[in-house]
Amino acid sequence: ARVAILISGTGTNMAALLYAAKADDCPYEVVLVASNNPDAPGLRLADAENIPTWAKSHKGMDRAAFDTEIGAAIEDAQAGYVALAGYMRLLSPEFVARWQHRMLNIHPSLLPKYKGLDTCQRALDAGDSHAGCSVHLVTAEVDDGEVLAQTKVAITDGDTAETLARRVQFAEHQLFPRTLARWVTRYHAPDWLLSEVTKYAL
Ligand code: GRF
Repeated sequence: ARVAILISGTGTNMAALLYAAKADDCPYEVVLVASNNPDAPGLRLADAENIPTWAKSHKGMDRAAFDTEIGAAIEDAQAGYVALAGYMRLLSPEFVARWQHRMLNIHPSLLPKYKGLDTCQRALDAGDSHAGCSVHLVTAEVDDGEVLAQTKVAITDGDTAETLARRVQFAEHQLFPRTLARWVTRYHAPDWLLSEVTKYAL
């Protein structure tokens, strides 16, 4: 399966997806890394790894117009799936509809808890015993959509938002490639079938 990765920043999850794809038995390949931030450090790594990149600043652009352009780059790369790896932009309804059941996002919380930002701080403030991460299908609502897989991460006594976030990232780097691999193999199927199977947990 051909996967396009969308990033806005560092791209550690992108790196995890890329390196998992180098395994002989990985069922997906990364055919494009695209970004709304031309300075995203992840673009440099993708470039060095000979993955085609596309970047353009969204500033001053209408959301739908920008998404049409990034969407065209994804179509040109003939990707069949989209992985959001720290892509910090809302997507237009048209884009979301185009990639329904074929676009996954990684989020640093045990969804449905803590959608949005500062998830680890919020888990600490709430006195939770665990934080974690989730991979979910992308729908029009932010950090919504069916959860495909989660990893729980224990919170320790001395944890700060930074130490916890770092540990959650380790979990993310394991979970995202594995879940993407399972999704493209088990549900590499026509759209009508995908909408049937997503009624059930992965
Ligand atoms: C990750 O924590 C991810 O869950 C969130 O954005 C962050 C991206 O980090 N959606 P990185 O760029 O992959 O390092």
